[in-house]
Amino acid sequence: MEKLDLLYEGKAKRVYKTSEEDLYWIEYKDDATAFNGEKKAQISGKGVLNNEISSILLTLLKEKGIENHLVKKLSATEQLVRQVEIIPIEVVVRNRAAGSFSKRLGVEEGNLLPKPIVEFYYKDDALGDPFINDDHIAILQLASPKELELIRETALKVNDILSAHLGERGITVVDFKLEFGKTRDGQVILADEISPDTCRFWDAKTNEKLDKDRFRRDLGNLIEAYQEIAKRLGGEIHV
Ligand code: C5P
Repeated sequence: MEKLDLLYEGKAKRVYKTSEEDLYWIEYKDDATAFNGEKKAQISGKGVLNNEISSILLTLLKEKGIENHLVKKLSATEQLVRQVEIIPIEVVVRNRAAGSFSKRLGVEEGNLLPKPIVEFYYKDDALGDPFINDDHIAILQLASPKELELIRETALKVNDILSAHLGERGITVVDFKLEFGKTRDGQVILADEISPDTCRFWDAKTNEKLDKDRFRRDLGNLIEAYQEIAKRLGGEIHV
């Protein structure tokens, strides 16, 4: 199989076509961005670590019955994935108050929520990824009610699996963002990445932040934090 033309370049990844109709070739970049691209940096080793962590977590989810786009990890920075059309909804699951939830609702960061909650954002950089609900999704025809129900249920199952697996490794899953895609035959599956770029992971004992908040909030030692997550997940570390 060959890597063909660049199809799309995102903030953290490049997506290439391949000689196989149903497969894409993904390359993780070292670019870090925050606040809708306003803050930018190159952080050497981030692509390798995110590829490693995302491959481990997507493999775990597949083993637990969550269909997703990962076919296999190809190299330190590359993955082979199933071709999907990304549904433009960012699905956020929260176990604890943090980030935009704390800011918007005035709830102290770290507070345990009575139950996990699911939020939807319209994936549109020009609009700044606005918060949306089921009615907006229906009106904008982003997903059918049946698809949205599947997305919500899957997101909560992913939360159960990740929270248990990371919890056993001394990591609190505070919140995370998922994206879903549609295969050529109309199946909705989990896609994109699951990494410290897209999740809030805290050390369970110290509450130390082991995720992209280290970059967003200028806390330093981002690579060390991502490396710690990779290590606790049993990953091989290449940086
Ligand atoms: O900023 P906010 O608190 O809404 O983020 C919730 C979760 O979603 C965090 O884990 C964050 O890393 C993730 N997120 C993301 N991409 C975005 C927005 C949020 O991965 N565009």
